[in-house]
Amino acid sequence: MNKRIGILTSGGDCPGLNAIIRAVVKCASQQRWEVYGIPYGTEGFLRLETGKCQSNDLKLKENGYDLPGLLHGIDILQFLSGSILGSLSKGNPQDKAIAKTIIQGYQDLKLDALIAVGGDGSLGIIYDLAQQGKWKIVAIPKTIDNDVPFTERSVGFDTAVNKVTAALYDLTFTAASHDRTMIVEVMGRNAGHLALHAGIAGGADIILIPELTPQIDENLIINLCIRLAKLRWTGRKFALVVIAEGVKNHVGERQKAIGDYLAQQIDQVSQRLCLTGKPEFCELNKIETRATVLGHIQRSGTPSSYDRLLAATFAKKAIDLIAADQYNQLVVWHNGAVQIQSLDKVVSQIKQSHRLGICPNPVDAEGFLVQTARSLGIYLGNSWKQTV
Ligand code: F6P
Repeated sequence: MNKRIGILTSGGDCPGLNAIIRAVVKCASQQRWEVYGIPYGTEGFLRLETGKCQSNDLKLKENGYDLPGLLHGIDILQFLSGSILGSLSKGNPQDKAIAKTIIQGYQDLKLDALIAVGGDGSLGIIYDLAQQGKWKIVAIPKTIDNDVPFTERSVGFDTAVNKVTAALYDLTFTAASHDRTMIVEVMGRNAGHLALHAGIAGGADIILIPELTPQIDENLIINLCIRLAKLRWTGRKFALVVIAEGVKNHVGERQKAIGDYLAQQIDQVSQRLCLTGKPEFCELNKIETRATVLGHIQRSGTPSSYDRLLAATFAKKAIDLIAADQYNQLVVWHNGAVQIQSLDKVVSQIKQSHRLGICPNPVDAEGFLVQTARSLGIYLGNSWKQTV
C-alpha cells in the first residue's frame, strides 16, 4: 500500500542527519511512498497550520539535490552535515494550545507515519506529542553525545570522535614545541563517551569524564599535578588533557569553560607544590597550560563512513517497520546489528534520568574502554592510586 510519511530532525544537529534523510527518501521511493520533510522539528507542523509553509513545498524527491553543470547527478546529500530540514533544540511546547496546533499539523498533513530523528531530549518531547495526537512514529537516534539509552551508537557520534581525535593530533605538536600542557574541552553534555573515545584514540595522557570524575576537587588537582610532574621527570615535557564539559567545578556546579577553569587550578596548585621544595615537584614551575574549547566544530564536518552506514541501515529499518505497521519503536544498534526498542521503555528511562539529573546512557565505569584507558596508563581521575 502506498504511504505518505513525514520525517523531521530535532534537537542539536550532528553529522549524518542528511544521510538519514537521503536514505529514508531512497528506501521510501522504492516503495512508491511519498515523503514530506517537516522543517525545524515539530515546529514545522506549527508553520503548516499558520500558513508559513505549504505541504506541497515539503515533498522530498529522490535525487532532488543535484549539482549544476557536469556535477549534475552527484547525490551529494549524504556527505553534507547539518540538516536540510533544519532542527530545533528548544522545541518543548509548554503552551497547551501550541501543542494542540502541532498535533493538528500532523493530522492535516494526512501522514500515515512519522520518522523522528532525535536525541535524548527531543525524543521525549516528540514521544509526548505522539501519545497525545496518536501519531504513528518510528524514531532514529542521533547525537554526538551518544547518550541515547538502549543503543550502542547514535548517528553523528563517530564523526565527532574523529573530529576530536584529529584536533588532539594537531594540538600535540604545538604542545610539544612549547613544552605545554594542552587542556582540550570536549562536548557531550552529561556523558563522557566523546571525551573517552577521542581521548584514547588521540593519545591523551589524562581524560576527565563525569562518570569517573563528577567534579573537580583539590585532591584531583594535586594528583593531576603529580602526574604531570612525573611525566616531566621522565623526560616528557608536554601533556594532553581531555576534559568533558559535563565535569563540574569545585562546588559541584556546571562551569562554563571548564577547561579554562581546570587550567587555572593546575597553575595554582602546581605553584604551591613547587614551593614545598620537594625535588619531584621542581619541574612543575615550568608548566604552562593552555585550554582549547572545541565547541560546535564537533557537530560539523563530512559524516564518517560509519555514520553514513549507520544512517542507511537505521533508515532502512525505519521504513521496514512502517511497512509492517509497527510503530512506537526506536531503531537501535546493538551487538553489531540494527535492532528495535520500544519507545515507551526508552523514553521512560530518559525521563527518569532527567528527573535524577543523571545521564540516560553513561559510560560504563567498569567497562572495557575504561579498563583499556587505564591499561594504557591514561590517568582517569579516580585511578591515580592504582597507577602511580
Ligand atoms: O547534545 C549535543 C550538544 O552538542 C552537547 O554536546 C552540547 O552540550 C549541546 O548540544 C550544545 O547545545 P547548543 O548547540 O544549544 O549550545
